Amino acid sequence: MTSGTNDDTYTFDNGAPDAVAQMHALESFLDPITTRRLARPVLRPGAACWEVGAGGGSMARRIARAVGDTGDVLATDIDPTHLVADGNLRVRRHDVRTEPPPADAFDLIHARLVLLHLPDRRRVLRTLAGALAPGGWLVVEEFDCTGPLRVLTAPTDDAAKLFAQVMDAMMGVLEDHGADLGWAQDVHTEMALAGLTDLDTITHSQSWAGGSTGTSLYETNSRQLEPDLLAAGLSPNQLNAFRRLVRDPAFAVMSYHFVSTRGRLRG
Ligand SMILES: C[S@@+](CC[C@H](N)C(=O)[O-])C[C@H]1O[C@@H](n2cnc3c(N)ncnc32)[C@H](O)[C@@H]1O
Repeated sequence: MTSGTNDDTYTFDNGAPDAVAQMHALESFLDPITTRRLARPVLRPGAACWEVGAGGGSMARRIARAVGDTGDVLATDIDPTHLVADGNLRVRRHDVRTEPPPADAFDLIHARLVLLHLPDRRRVLRTLAGALAPGGWLVVEEFDCTGPLRVLTAPTDDAAKLFAQVMDAMMGVLEDHGADLGWAQDVHTEMALAGLTDLDTITHSQSWAGGSTGTSLYETNSRQLEPDLLAAGLSPNQLNAFRRLVRDPAFAVMSYHFVSTRGRLRG
């Protein structure tokens, strides 16, 4: 199902009332995984790093701590509302689609859940690869949204069907804004085509119980996208029932599938 509002602007709004809860839920799910992916040899003290589309900034802060006083982190976002400069962490408003990279010799460039949303993601990935220092790492992490999310337990069959219907509509809204739901699976190949080496990709998904921080993401996403979801044909009652369902402990579902790909420019 799609809303039919084709528009290639970023789907979510960092200034929306639910944005902080949405970012915290993302960060508490993903930061432990990303931190493992950025461990040595990728991240080392003294490194110059660029966090692209930094959002709530939790990874930028973690990277700044890891590189220490001799390192430097630049956190950029098209909407840096939630980013705060501190010590070796600098913040800048920057549109990765339209502006040149802020420097051209980064030891680490990390972009999580950003390129998926950008219609010109292949060109942007090449641009990021071109901003690496010799030996520098590019780490791109995305959700693979191609498959339906498997409902593990639900209070009724109708509730499971409603979950699938609302998620289908949400994916349609993302696509209408230019997102590529299968891009996560292309990143490894695109990095190889960009000339990067030492490539590796992992995927992660887990069960989420109703009422958990994980399922709260489905709820906050449904609030942020509410006008589009109503335009796509869902009713306010269906959205309210969906929100009750994802808070119900009798409900469990598999999380979004998270795909993390790393590659390095030859030293
Ligand atoms: C889903 S959030 C992910 C935030 C953060 N990377 C994380 O994983 O916690 C996507 C972020 O990308 C930013 N973004 C979207 N389009 C962008 C663009 N063209 N240039 C820079 N940032 C962009 C958004 O403002 C938002 O903060």
